[in-house]
Amino acid sequence: MEKLVIQGGHRLVGSVAASGAKNAALPILIATLLAPGEHRLANVPDLADISSTLSLLGRLGCPSLVGPTLRVDTTRIAFCEAPYDIVSRMRASVLVLGPLLARHGEAIVSLPGGCAIGTRPIDQHLKGLEALGCTFELSKGNIHGRTDGLRGAEINLDMPTVGGTENILMAAVLAEGDSIIRNAAREPEIVDLANFLITLGANIEGAGTSEIRVSGVPRLSPASRPYRIMPDRIEVGTYLVAGAITRGDVTVTNCNPDEVRSLLGKLTSAGATIETTDTSIRLIQDGPVQSFELITEPHPGFPTDMQSQMCALACFADGVSTITENIFENRFMHAAEMSRMGATIDIVGRTAIVRGTGAMSSAIVMSSDLRASAALAIAAMGADADMPEGERGLSELRRLYHLDRGYENLVDKFRSLGARLARVEDDESDPAVLLAATQHS
Ligand code: UD1
Repeated sequence: MEKLVIQGGHRLVGSVAASGAKNAALPILIATLLAPGEHRLANVPDLADISSTLSLLGRLGCPSLVGPTLRVDTTRIAFCEAPYDIVSRMRASVLVLGPLLARHGEAIVSLPGGCAIGTRPIDQHLKGLEALGCTFELSKGNIHGRTDGLRGAEINLDMPTVGGTENILMAAVLAEGDSIIRNAAREPEIVDLANFLITLGANIEGAGTSEIRVSGVPRLSPASRPYRIMPDRIEVGTYLVAGAITRGDVTVTNCNPDEVRSLLGKLTSAGATIETTDTSIRLIQDGPVQSFELITEPHPGFPTDMQSQMCALACFADGVSTITENIFENRFMHAAEMSRMGATIDIVGRTAIVRGTGAMSSAIVMSSDLRASAALAIAAMGADADMPEGERGLSELRRLYHLDRGYENLVDKFRSLGARLARVEDDESDPAVLLAATQHS
């Protein structure tokens, strides 16, 4: 296993291109199951979660070929079971329920257990699919779904769940008749999925609003052109926050500023200057970071997937920031690790009170989940900035596999901005070797 070694205190300057969005690519890859034939997708990021999804499709009998344009052949579905070893690695596997039931009439998915950021139930997925004519049994840790034909229905979600909206939408496109999903999630990734489904022949209106209307069609077929996955707005946000933490000047290209408006507003209130074009965002952090208040909410509110990175930024602020997490119940796992770097963070219920001191110090820290890892990595990039370079320590981020799930080419991208970091074997502990690894040209 590897760890990430980081020497902080280097201002990030330059430009980096956003990769394709993990959270759009996952449901879109799974949606290919709905239309028999060969699908072509562009801008699919090279990530562990994408490999897991391709193995899952492979287990169902659908081979894929990775390249600049990824190909998936869903001509034949040979099996209808998502096994524990894949679901436990990647909760989004549960999204096969809708497509498998719609196309195959049966689906078995190992129950996704809790995860580091909370229990994450799937009751809303099942409620919606039941309304469309599916029945479910739970046995031996599996959810076994069956249907003898999907029929359109009106579904009122209890909360705007992203995965739930996607699962129900993927089933509704092949149901007989019309469906309405109310209180639907409005995330841009839902719009990307709907746009992809439309290229397969689906009738969908209202994606991106809280009411999605679907008119079912008897069959779907692969589009004649490759579908291009949207940019990853959480990756975009992570590079921008890293720019702010290091008082840098960072431009992210190949992105859509409209998809990160709530983040840009928060970065401005933290003292950054933001300049946008239609496809790029530049962040300049000239002065000290200012404290801020933040509440996570469903889109278009502030995304929970950027909460831990903003918590890292708050540690570098002068003053007290408050961060309230409204989406997941246990998403402050990074706080304890950040305190190892000198942060003072009190958790009161769903709120983190971050007493920034303007500085953090290098430390060995442990990742608990994907976004917490990113937050710790960028915190380490700002650590020891108040020291002369020769006296700065090294931070080590253990359990690197979390980051590999969601950040394509992270080390090279951050290096291109001037960060000093390297992947090294876990058991390498010689300070001279570690330092040399981070001092690449
Ligand atoms: C997706 C994203 C994840 C992001 C999250 C919220 C993917 C692959 N993952 O996760 O990165 O953090 O949206 O923006 O796209 N809930 C229920 N019952 C359900 C479904 C959800 O109670 O049936 C609750 C969850 O426990 C959570 C909230 O609803 O508290 C939101 O979860 P949801 O939007 O479903 O998140 P995911 O789709 O799992």
